[in-house]
Amino acid sequence: MTGPAASGPVPVVTIDGPGGSGKGTVGRRLAQALGWHYLDSGALYRLVALAAQRRGVALDDAPALAALARDLEVLFEIGPGPDEERVRLAGDEVGPDLRTEACGERASRVAALPAVRAALLERQRAFRRPPGLVADGRDMGSVVFPDATLKIFLTASPLERARRRYNQLKEKGVSANLAALSDEIARRDARDAQRAVAPLRPAADAVVLDTTGMAIAEVVARVRGLL
Ligand code: C5P
Repeated sequence: MTGPAASGPVPVVTIDGPGGSGKGTVGRRLAQALGWHYLDSGALYRLVALAAQRRGVALDDAPALAALARDLEVLFEIGPGPDEERVRLAGDEVGPDLRTEACGERASRVAALPAVRAALLERQRAFRRPPGLVADGRDMGSVVFPDATLKIFLTASPLERARRRYNQLKEKGVSANLAALSDEIARRDARDAQRAVAPLRPAADAVVLDTTGMAIAEVVARVRGLL
């Protein structure tokens, strides 16, 4: 028997949503449970911001940033644990630098530039390889994989999202302040939702899941149930 996954295009589950909605953790666990590939598209925007900082490129120099995005020498290594990911930029391990709120803030500025988004488009689509892909971000279902098998949009209350980010950063040994984080998340969401290109909003055919008060395993099970 060949199901649609075997005979049609490589299946993709897209998980979009604002910061702290749980999409990274849910996406990684889902990919691991299904034995599929995983794309953390936010990491690509963070990498462009980090590469720009290291090379002294201004965050409004669209042509130079697009060139950086096209030429990023990046390597993702997942595991051994479900929540562990190693990211290398030109051979250097950059995970901790990538996860800071300051880097997220710079990523959201470069992500508003159409030339940067265009430069990353094919790179993101190249992650679609058999047996399947779980892709998380802001525009995975709306722009990058419009023909995805299943599109999920995760939300959670602003307070819960700030708390999750706080706990995540603390676990990684990064110091954080809950009130400041909450302000930063709100500012970043507003910029991501209001930009002209690929703004943060659910695709018309996405299933919207409010994960406030839900455990990660519960969210993963709900998404699997929809596949
Ligand atoms: O998800 P993460 O916090 O790592 O994303 C960092 C920033 O990258 C977001 O605030 C957003 O501006 C941008 N981004 C995007 N499109 C994506 C993923 C991330 O614009 N698909």
